[in-house]
Parts: sequence; C-alpha cells; structure tokens
Amino acid sequence: MAKIDPQYFRQELSVGEVASRSGVAVSAVHFYESKGLIKSWRNAGNQRRYHRDVLRRVALIKVAQRTGIPLASIRDALQTLPDERAPTAADWRRLSAQWRQELNNRIQRLTQMRDQLNKCIGCGCLSLRDCPLRNPWDELSAEGSGARLLDPD
Ligand code: FES
Repeated sequence: MAKIDPQYFRQELSVGEVASRSGVAVSAVHFYESKGLIKSWRNAGNQRRYHRDVLRRVALIKVAQRTGIPLASIRDALQTLPDERAPTAADWRRLSAQWRQELNNRIQRLTQMRDQLNKCIGCGCLSLRDCPLRNPWDELSAEGSGARLLDPD
C-alpha cells in the first residue's frame, strides 16, 4: 500500500499545489482570484497561500464553467457560502439545482433559436421585418420603420 505524504494534508497550499491538485493551470488560479472567485493571503515570504478549501471551490467553478454558467454568476453563488469552510455536498446540491434551472432556460432559448434558424437556411434575406433572428421579439414592428428609439420625435 502506498504511503501518503503527510504534506498532502497541509491546510495551506501554494498556487502551484492548487493548480496541480485541481487540474487547472496556474494562470487559471490567478484568474479566478482576480475575478473574486477564490481568495489567498501572503505568507512571510510574500508568497500567495490558499486554504485547502480552495480545492473544492475550484472544482465547483470548473463544473459550473462546463455548463456555461457565467463567471459573475459563479462568483455571486460562491459569495453565498461561508469563508471558513469548504463547500459541502448540501451547498453543491443547492447551487447545482439553481444552475440546472439556468441551463434549462438556456437550452429552451437555444432550441428556439435553432428552430428559427431553420427558417433562415436557404433564405438569406436578413430582413428586420421578416427574419426572426434579426428581430427576435418583433417589438418595434407595430410602430413603423426606422430608428425610432434614437429619434423619439
Ligand atoms: S434570413 Fe430570411 S428569415 Fe432569416
């Protein structure tokens, strides 16, 4: 049986350790931090240190990114979690249920756009009046033509 290095269970991790254990690039760790998704502090040698909780946060970020959740939404979700502990299974259930709804909404919009694109295939008109993708909600059609929003008179 392989012996586990006791260093593996340290609470403080360097950026390189976070990257290698999370399967992301060091630049990704810095990027997540610059976007407020994760936090670090500086040790006496002025090197960044991360609490090992960051590993679950990065895992959560990666999964959310794979489903297309915007970083701003991920950051907002992570801010609902307490700083002093790793996201729990219950946290993940709550967030994933919320993101599932967002994903369903996006699938519905994309399905609608795909169906509208079917109308465009072979057409090429790109008409503001007739093309559902050019003017998806047809909000201004009843008011006539032209740039009415820019010139209310
Ligand atoms: S290009 Fe003609 S309907 Fe979209």
